[in-house]
Amino acid sequence: MSHVANRFTGCTIIVTGGGAGIGRATVERLIAEGGRVVAVDVSADRLTSLIDEVQGDITTVAADITDPASTAQILDAAGPRIDGLANVAGIMDGFEPTAEISDATWDRVLAVNVTAMMRLTRGVLTPMLERGMGSIVNVGSEAGQRGSAAGTPYTTSKHAVNGFTRSTAFFYTPKGIRCNAVAPGPVATSIEAPFHSEWAGERLGPLFQTNIPRVARPEELAAAITWLLSDDASNVSGAILSVDGGWASI
Ligand SMILES: NC(=O)c1ccc[n+]([C@@H]2O[C@H](COP(=O)([O-])OP(=O)(O)OC[C@H]3O[C@@H](n4cnc5c(N)ncnc54)[C@H](O)[C@@H]3O)[C@@H](O)[C@H]2O)c1
Repeated sequence: MSHVANRFTGCTIIVTGGGAGIGRATVERLIAEGGRVVAVDVSADRLTSLIDEVQGDITTVAADITDPASTAQILDAAGPRIDGLANVAGIMDGFEPTAEISDATWDRVLAVNVTAMMRLTRGVLTPMLERGMGSIVNVGSEAGQRGSAAGTPYTTSKHAVNGFTRSTAFFYTPKGIRCNAVAPGPVATSIEAPFHSEWAGERLGPLFQTNIPRVARPEELAAAITWLLSDDASNVSGAILSVDGGWASI
């Protein structure tokens, strides 16, 4: 996949989930295009591998983004100028239908996928509003487009990502800040998605076998995320961009 030389030169971009999968591919592409990256991950080991293996201006923050104190830590690491935020970190549920949801799964999935995204976005808006510019990209999912791509907690969380994206775009696009989301289909990453429900297996299995397109590479998602972060997407805000091999059109 080719890069756009110097597209992010002089820019500081925060990437959550930067230690693996789609987040790591996003970090790599931003670095290849001249950016400075603040890579956030709950796994310190993954961040160590990242800086061992990728040469460039990377500041790492090992933190659980559900900890409210992490926002200040991440903003401190970024410094006064923040050009972009990619809210990539997320977790799956166990494909639980509503009657089988545990409070623990519900709370954790919503905490990581929704509340942490809100807190960090709220945090970066202060410096972005001071400069009157910035780009925020959230990672949704096919599960934000339909009811048949995950369990109920994850589906709920990714529909919330879409609403959060559109509302943030509505309020802040006139102030120079764009907010968009990408909605991936299946991607080859380290995300864990075990089936914990017999009924979900029975109900979803046949749909998955017939509808799911090919599994994408994380780089294919990074291409879309970095495009939305960049000035190439200067007139795009409030979009939910399906990057799913056409799954949403089925
Ligand atoms: N892989 C897929 O098929 C797929 C499909 C649709 C959407 N997504 C979404 O893409 C995003 C990235 O997922 P991925 O597939 O690259 O997964 P991944 O597990 O490979 O990477 C996610 C990274 O986020 C980190 N993380 C998780 N919880 C965290 C927390 N509380 N604080 C800080 N870091 C945390 C993990 O340690 C991991 O390194 C997620 O939002 C996911 O919902 C993935």
